[in-house]
Amino acid sequence: AGSGKFFVGGNWKCNGTKDSISKLVSDLNSATLESDVDVVVSPPFVYLDQVKNSLTERIEIAAQNCWTGKGGAFTGEISVEQLKDLGCKWVVLGHSERRHIIGENDEFIGKKAAYALSQNLGVIACIGELLEEREAGKTFDVCFRQMKAFADAVPSWDNLVVAYEPVWAIGTGKVATPEQAQEVHVAVRDWLSKNVSAEVASKTRIIYGGSVNGGNCAELAKKEDIDGFLVGGASLKGAEFVTIINSVT
Ligand code: G3P
Repeated sequence: AGSGKFFVGGNWKCNGTKDSISKLVSDLNSATLESDVDVVVSPPFVYLDQVKNSLTERIEIAAQNCWTGKGGAFTGEISVEQLKDLGCKWVVLGHSERRHIIGENDEFIGKKAAYALSQNLGVIACIGELLEEREAGKTFDVCFRQMKAFADAVPSWDNLVVAYEPVWAIGTGKVATPEQAQEVHVAVRDWLSKNVSAEVASKTRIIYGGSVNGGNCAELAKKEDIDGFLVGGASLKGAEFVTIINSVT
C-alpha cells in the first residue's frame, strides 16, 4: 500500500440471487471496516437497486459494465446515466472476462471509460496479461498497450483506479506472488509517469486482482505499489471480504 487511500472492490460477477445477496449485504452492514479504506461492491445490474437500497452508505456501488455514450436505441445495454440514477459511483471496465470471453477491444473499452468519466462516474480500469503472454515475456507490452488505450481516451485520471489482474490468476486459485504483482505495478506506475505525468503516476491507485483471499491479502497489501484489491470469488463471502478490506497496512 502506498498511493492514496487503500481501495478494495468486490466484483460479484454474474453470481447471486435476491436471497443470497440480501444475506451478503447484511453481513457487510454488520461488519466493522477499517476507516482508511475505500470499499466498493459490484453486483450484477439486476441487483444494483436492491443493493443500493439495503447496503450501508459506507460502501459504494460499482456497475460491472456500461454503454459507450448516452442511452437510446441500444438493446440490452445500460447507460452511465441509468447507473448514476441508481446511485452507482463506479463502473468496472476492461475486465478480462469482457475482453476475452465477450470480445471487447481496447478502443471500445477506452470509449466507455471516457464517457463514464465525463459524466463523473468513477472507472475501475482493468488490465492484465494472459498466461501465454506472460510466458512469452510480453506482460509489460500487453499491460502498456491496455494502459495506452485508456490514456488515449480518458479526459482525466482523477476518478480512475487501475486494476492489474493477470488473467492466469483470475478464478484459478493461483495468486500472483507479492513480488510478481509489485513488479507489474511499478512498471505501470513508471509507464504513467513517462506517458501521462509524474503527478498522475504518484496519485493513481493501482490495485491487484486474481485469487485474492483472506489468507494471501496481508502479504500482498504490504507491497509499496499495491494500493488495494479487486476481489472476485472471495468477495461473495462476507467475512472473508471483510478480512481483505481490513488487511490494509
Ligand atoms: O475482478 C476480480 C477478479 O477478476 C478476480 O477474481 O475470483 O480470482 O478473485 P477472483
